[in-house]
Amino acid sequence: MHFFTYKKNKFYAEAVSIEKIAKEVGTPCYIYSHKTLTRHYAAFDEAFETVPHLICYSVKANSNISVLNTFIKAGSGVDIVSGGELFRSLKAGANPKKIVYSGVGKREDEIEYALKAGILMFNVESPEELRAINKIAGRLKKKAGFAIRVNPNVDPKTHPYVSTGLKKNKFGIETEQAIKEYVYAKNNLKNLTPIGVDCHIGSQLTQLSPFIDALKKTKEIITTLGSEGIEVKYLDMGGGLGITYKDENAPHPSKYGKAVIDATKRLGVTLIFEPGRVMVGNAGILVTKVLYTKQGTEKNFIIVDAAMNDLARPSLYGSYHAIKAVGKNSGKHVPADFKQGEITADVVGPICESGDFFAKDRELLYFKSGDLMAIMSAGAYGFSMSSNYNSRPRAAEVMVKGNKFSVIRERESYKDLIKGEDLAKS
Ligand code: LLP
Repeated sequence: MHFFTYKKNKFYAEAVSIEKIAKEVGTPCYIYSHKTLTRHYAAFDEAFETVPHLICYSVKANSNISVLNTFIKAGSGVDIVSGGELFRSLKAGANPKKIVYSGVGKREDEIEYALKAGILMFNVESPEELRAINKIAGRLKKKAGFAIRVNPNVDPKTHPYVSTGLKKNKFGIETEQAIKEYVYAKNNLKNLTPIGVDCHIGSQLTQLSPFIDALKKTKEIITTLGSEGIEVKYLDMGGGLGITYKDENAPHPSKYGKAVIDATKRLGVTLIFEPGRVMVGNAGILVTKVLYTKQGTEKNFIIVDAAMNDLARPSLYGSYHAIKAVGKNSGKHVPADFKQGEITADVVGPICESGDFFAKDRELLYFKSGDLMAIMSAGAYGFSMSSNYNSRPRAAEVMVKGNKFSVIRERESYKDLIKGEDLAKS
């Protein structure tokens, strides 16, 4: 459910016309709907209202401080994977006691920063990392709360690049070894406190069964730890719940909630979740302007002013994003319901790579030069994965709230592009 809709053949974000935003802010620009963000948070939160839980929004999905602040105000914690994400989260007002820190390669300075900030726990991904955190905590005279991220060897049935819970993936520690590490830490690593067990098996999951299979293994670990005298307070289930980009039948958070609550009855733990995509994915769009159109003998092309540097997902994963017209296209009659199907074209950006596309052989309305296009479901892993490739300044980001909008990140300038660069000494 989102609040991007047509009113009299014009596309709106909540009560603001997208054409108006594009006129004032320029293109390409990301537009987020505040009401959609808060609704998504509430839907997830309500799904677990009957059990103790903590939502730690996964910052990597969309790390704009205004987006973070929206969730934080709603009660969310955050899941971070770098010192940079910690910095952003604190700036956005995150409560350190609601911060979990995941990732296979935490640097010493990042661990130190997180310990000083007083985060809730580190999700530890290797025995060496466990020892490193213990050492740094000792030096700082602090106790570090930790969970081991277990690799349950469960297939999440998603894109291989975002599948993380198989033995062949770099993530987590296999279950047998994880138990040994908890016991080792209890006996030897005195600056650590085991407070949780963590498991994240992948992203854009559209079935519930892999979550439940992983949960079975996590539960076994919690029980085994109990028999070793190690009581953990938290079970962190990671993120991963999928969304509808095209026709995927992703389970609603309430369904996910019911299945998880059923599977964790009488475990006596607080559940932690690290949702990213399901919070922001359908709450954001990328608005771009058509520069040119051209007809080849084999293909039609619509060339727009956004590119793979702005939204990498189609190039990187071949992922589908719906495309909608923002206004009345091209003076031609456009049906009121904006039915697609007038031409078949590739929608491409200006970057010098054939991989720079948003859609391939897509049935679309007839777009002409100057028309605006909305690339849907771009709120997650859109701006946060954007780059300056081809020396393209990164797009502006806009937040719409009711009938108002604010620029929450200015479009980068050419000057921004060379910030920090210098000529070598001769
Ligand atoms: N927790 C951990 C430890 C993660 O690695 C991730 C995502 C999440 C939570 C949030 O997962 P979500 O709820 O968003 O599925 N760039 C890819 C997605 C990469 C996901 C990486 N990890 C994409 O655009 O599809």
